[in-house]
Amino acid sequence: MFRRLNFYSICFAFGLSVLLILAGSRYTDNINYHSPLESRKTIRNYLRIEDGEDNLVQPLPTNPYDGSPNIDKILEKTRNRIRSELSNYNFSNSGVNGLEELLMESGGTPIRSLIVSTWRSGSTFFGELLNAMPGTYYHYEPFLWYDIIQIRGPPYSYKALKYMKNLMNCDHDGMPEIFEFGKGHLHAFSHNTRLWDHCKYNKELCLDPDFTTKMCKLFPFQSMKVVRVRLRLIEELLEDKELNLKVVLLVRDPRGVMQSRQHRSFCQPAPDCWSPELVCADMISDYVAASRFMEKYPDRLMALRYEELALDPNGTAHKVLKFLRLGMTQSVEEFLHTHTTVEVAGVSSTFRVSSAVPFKWKTTLLFNYVDEIQTACKEAMSLWGYKMVNNASQMTSKDFYPLEPYTITQ
Ligand SMILES: *[C@@H]1O[C@H](CO)[C@@H](O)[C@H](O)[C@H]1NC(C)=O
Ligand SMILES: *[C@@H]1O[C@H](CO)[C@@H](O)[C@H](O)[C@H]1NC(C)=O
Ligand SMILES: *[C@@H]1O[C@H](CO)[C@@H](O)[C@H](O)[C@H]1NC(C)=O
Repeated sequence: MFRRLNFYSICFAFGLSVLLILAGSRYTDNINYHSPLESRKTIRNYLRIEDGEDNLVQPLPTNPYDGSPNIDKILEKTRNRIRSELSNYNFSNSGVNGLEELLMESGGTPIRSLIVSTWRSGSTFFGELLNAMPGTYYHYEPFLWYDIIQIRGPPYSYKALKYMKNLMNCDHDGMPEIFEFGKGHLHAFSHNTRLWDHCKYNKELCLDPDFTTKMCKLFPFQSMKVVRVRLRLIEELLEDKELNLKVVLLVRDPRGVMQSRQHRSFCQPAPDCWSPELVCADMISDYVAASRFMEKYPDRLMALRYEELALDPNGTAHKVLKFLRLGMTQSVEEFLHTHTTVEVAGVSSTFRVSSAVPFKWKTTLLFNYVDEIQTACKEAMSLWGYKMVNNASQMTSKDFYPLEPYTITQ
């Protein structure tokens, strides 16, 4: 008897808590759903009724405005904007006769570009440069939610590669981590300026995979940058002929990398970011992968040293855009002009480059630390054409030029 009573009371308590949870989630849903303005309007409507101003009261709609904007309108506006911004674009640079051939909406294949790099190696600047192309959908750092780790193989690589493929195909379903992370870190979306235009005032839009999938498919140029995935793993994407992907591997002198990372608090607790041994093992692995890919997938991969981009932004940008099948546009030229002629102001200016940046380590690092990096990085530096220094006076000397030619040999 007692037992039976207990059983029923447990059932009752369980049922009650389910109800409470449901009610609670409904409540929070509602809060998120309505824009503050809309909630205030609804409240005003209720107040009016209570005020007895019957003649002013509009009937409460049975299907009230739910805060969602008119998606179709946004899509149509975006379509038109892309068309108009590219009206002067010479599509033969991209190997096609016109915009339609690059649009997923009309069964075309977009120009897909991937930048593979690591932290503090100039990929932010490079990514912004590509984003200056009109008609670009910029998949910025899709793996921020992994935090400060390098993905070098299983188990992380399975999901990372699957997600990269999904993103490249504008299929944004089934990647909850990206959108979950975005809830707390909207800056993750702000680099994708053409998406951000629409969600800076309505954040839910960015967090809605249905919307981002539809938006993504409108864009003829799809670019992505990753700093957490090593080149070797990208083979899966190169094998996929449908993707028609071009990859730029961006490397940097480990002494410059480590100098720049000293100013980033995220870096030091994470060995993948802070240990010269790991940084340079990745550089060797990337070199080996690059040489294999250049033979196996001709004209799909370009390797680039950050220093070359910083010393000759204009010439290098022309070369890279040509490789990526992108024609130079006025907007890219303007970007180059405004982001390369100004001196680096401080650690917060993330995407300015100038000839002063790449060799800053020579005057700011202690020789002992440089020596430590060089000991760990001997092979990586020799492969990528970075000269060693023997002592402090040689290091700081103006005559010492750290770059030498290198080749990627099969
Ligand atoms: C477009 O670019 C191609 C080469 O990329 C060039 O041969 C052609 O003259 C250009 N057309 C126009 C109209 O500028
Ligand atoms: C930039 O580089 C291109 C190709 O190398 C060249 O034709 C052009 O004149 C350069 N522009 C400037 C401003 O240096
Ligand atoms: C520093 O290294 C350079 C280049 O190897 C050498 O010429 C120079 O004598 C060295 N200086 C000292 C103080 O050891």
